[in-house]
Amino acid sequence: MKIVLVAGARPNFMKVSAIIDAIQSHNASGGRHIEYRLVHTGQHYDAQMSQTFFTDLGIPKPDVDMEVGSSSHAQQTGEIIKRFEFIMLDEQPDVVLVVGDVNSTIACSLVASKMMYPNPTATLKLLRPRIAHVEAGLRSFDREMPEEVNRVLTDVVSDFLFTTERSAEKNLKKEGIPKDKVHFVGNTMVDSLLKHRKKSQESAILERLGLSHDDKGVPREYGVMTLHRPSNVDDLTCFQPILEALKELSQDMPMVFPVHPRTMKRIQEFHLESNFASLIPQKIGGSGLYCIEPLGYLDFLRLTANAKLVLTDSGGLQEETTILGVPCVTLRENTERPITITQGTNVLAGTMKDQILIHARQQLTHHKKHKRPKFWDGHAGQRIVEILDRSLCGTS
Ligand code: UD1
Repeated sequence: MKIVLVAGARPNFMKVSAIIDAIQSHNASGGRHIEYRLVHTGQHYDAQMSQTFFTDLGIPKPDVDMEVGSSSHAQQTGEIIKRFEFIMLDEQPDVVLVVGDVNSTIACSLVASKMMYPNPTATLKLLRPRIAHVEAGLRSFDREMPEEVNRVLTDVVSDFLFTTERSAEKNLKKEGIPKDKVHFVGNTMVDSLLKHRKKSQESAILERLGLSHDDKGVPREYGVMTLHRPSNVDDLTCFQPILEALKELSQDMPMVFPVHPRTMKRIQEFHLESNFASLIPQKIGGSGLYCIEPLGYLDFLRLTANAKLVLTDSGGLQEETTILGVPCVTLRENTERPITITQGTNVLAGTMKDQILIHARQQLTHHKKHKRPKFWDGHAGQRIVEILDRSLCGTS
């Protein structure tokens, strides 16, 4: 079996890393050999958004880097489609495995769904590669989100839909996806987190930022925030109240804000610099809101694991805080990952200043009881590889 693995944007790398680990273990244990090619679309390309993750997670160098870079949604998706078709014709894999919900995910699945290549061995004249979607079935029910459109469309064309939580199975059933295509396997993001948790404790990020201890040797308290959704940062009437809430919260303890390139652009365009105690400081001082560069995987893991509170609009971070047991406040009206609320540490606060403040303060004073969701156990990648191996190569 030959698999083409697709990764394009930052949140994809942890998921693909877990799958590569599982393929390598499968091959090393004497299972039928699975050949794989790693394709990086280049949707994210800055060293801090991409290469650092490959280094931290020990992901092999991509076999192909499509280098599509940034542009409008349509141009980026179109460019990936054009370039990926050549790769498919060249590689002719049995399976194309895509993860998550970014533009690279839908672009590559769409190409694979219409791809046919000659089959030299069987009576069938043409072969279509199978499509495997990791993190299928998650739904925010908000079609204004580009990711929601990517999720729904990718699931429609996929042959193997690997889910992280039970809600996803229900969503797929309602959408008429046949049950035999859906496999509840758990969370590959959590595979990576559990594997790298110990190593992340060696990161020097807290010392580098002056966050480990105060002058008396007491561990410092701080919050972490991330923000990059177009709906939150591209519109000043939404971004401003969020910033005001965060500024107010940061009077009690410093808030560390590793800034996504999109968000940094908006801060500059909207002239919001005065909201921050400092932009890209060497050290975090007393109270205040501090923008820092985007961090690599291990640094970010140590930073969040030791935080008092996380505020975010990211999907992955809602899951990571659930595993880390760190209170999380999600700055959105909805989440496609409801288990992080029902079983995890997450609450939805929306984007209004008052609501953010209420939820954040509640989270700081009353820790939610949480329990680890089923199959968020470090073995999701292994389950995926076993299912593909069994389904495509038979049981013998
Ligand atoms: C994408 C995903 C989003 C995911 C996020 C994680 C889609 C539709 N969105 O959003 O689901 O949560 O990645 O970060 O696929 N940029 C750089 N350097 C980079 C990458 C981006 O400077 O390495 C800047 C560019 O100005 C670009 C902007 O960030 O225009 C946005 O990048 P893009 O890949 O279009 O979307 P994200 O907002 O990162």
